[in-house]
Amino acid sequence: MRTSGEGCTFHTYISGHFNNPYPRAAMSEKAQIILNGKTYEFPVVTGSEGEKAIDIGKLRDETGYITLDFGYKNTGATTSAITFLDGEEGILHYRGYPIEQLAEKASFIEVAYLLLFGELPNKKQLEEFEGNIRYHSLVHEDMKRFFEHFPSNAHPMGILSAMVNSLSTFYPKSQDPHRPQALVLRTIYRLIAKMPTLAAISYKNNLGHPYMYPVNKLGYVENFLHMMFALPTEEYEVDPVVADALNKLLILHADHEQNCSTSTVRIVGSSQANLYSAVSAGIAALWGPLHGGANQEVIEMLETIRNDGGDIQKWVDKAKDKNDPFRLFGFGHRVYKNFDPRAKIMQKTCHEVLGELGITDEPLLDLAMALERIALEDDYFVSRKLYPNVDFYSGIILKAMGIPTSMFTVIFAVARTVGWVSQWKEMVEDPSQRIGRPRQIYTGPSQRDYVDVARRG
Ligand code: SDX
Repeated sequence: MRTSGEGCTFHTYISGHFNNPYPRAAMSEKAQIILNGKTYEFPVVTGSEGEKAIDIGKLRDETGYITLDFGYKNTGATTSAITFLDGEEGILHYRGYPIEQLAEKASFIEVAYLLLFGELPNKKQLEEFEGNIRYHSLVHEDMKRFFEHFPSNAHPMGILSAMVNSLSTFYPKSQDPHRPQALVLRTIYRLIAKMPTLAAISYKNNLGHPYMYPVNKLGYVENFLHMMFALPTEEYEVDPVVADALNKLLILHADHEQNCSTSTVRIVGSSQANLYSAVSAGIAALWGPLHGGANQEVIEMLETIRNDGGDIQKWVDKAKDKNDPFRLFGFGHRVYKNFDPRAKIMQKTCHEVLGELGITDEPLLDLAMALERIALEDDYFVSRKLYPNVDFYSGIILKAMGIPTSMFTVIFAVARTVGWVSQWKEMVEDPSQRIGRPRQIYTGPSQRDYVDVARRG
């Protein structure tokens, strides 16, 4: 199928492989680089939303030069048909569907199917997919012994990363990403199904409470809440307000193109390491305070400001001070130079959830909104296009839902597992995929000879 834009012909990705190395992008224009008086031409790749990239795949072979791009701010690692975001306009689409519509109308499991297979499921497909996920919600009984040996104050993200990696020891057949499709999908279903179970056990481990088994008559979100909060000694009713809020939060956090943790999963997977180990590495990357760990940092930052007397301007000034290591967590983004659309939805959800839970006085929300207002009027933030990101309000919602701060990034990981496995699946199915191995520019000492220790002075 071909659709035409302004004078460009877009090849849309159906199946199989066009002669174009980027099955989902068009290559019509050329870029010229002049080095030492010689002109080199490189193809320009145009995405389905008009994004453009210079394909430098032959740069070193033809010129002897490489590019250097700290933090990969200007470098695309792949083409992808999963998530589109426009940082200048504050747009986020999953497989073409606006995040606002999915957050409002879809279930997280529907969005998981969409990210994995590219289309929203019909009724039969959804029932079959949910059945596959439910079937794998239990973890091997032997895994409980691992949990018993973590320190009671172990951070749940450290437990989760270790436990997910240990799944690879229980399913050795899953080691080869190119095994028949059924095995690859079974590994993907296992990860999506077991993440809430492992997350809930990590939480119970922290509390010293007995683990709750999944109850498969419940939906995915309700089952997760039940495993987190139910006790064997009493009936537990899932609060529909909390379930709806968690469903929305999981959708908003499901995927975000080539962020730090997803790039980690892709690069680990590119060596053909098994998917459990790749996702375990993704959890480790997400834990960082500059990435998914920011949602925990935001709440701790707001509590610090509140305990310090609530002098917001003092902390905004600290965030601006180059000599002060303090940064405003939940603010700024590598790609969004406008409002993160997820932050807008999150702020609205904050008010809805607090209202429906009858929480009329949440000082941290008042503080967050005052902080946002002051920062967005300050030239330091405005000139650097620093806006609230997905993490700025999420912690306030999670706190209102009764989820402890130490579990905030775990919730993010449960959601992002769907994005990680979808991006990994797209990578292993791409015939042009190869092992990730960036180059460098060496700046160390030139060759020199070994000197015996006795003569080193
Ligand atoms: C997530 O990539 C993704 O898609 C991630 C994510 C996803 O869904 O996967 O969206 C999830 O990780 C959101 C981000 C959560 N992190 C935080 O909230 C931590 C606080 N934010 C910053 O650390 C920072 O904004 C980053 C890490 C998010 C982005 O870093 P960049 O792109 O490397 O930007 P930078 O550090 O080069 O900042 C540019 C300028 C610098 O000032 P100058 O050198 O130009 O003078 O802005 C300043 C920075 O000092 N700056 C901040 C700031 N963020 C950037 N100053 C104060 N407070 C901040 N939060």
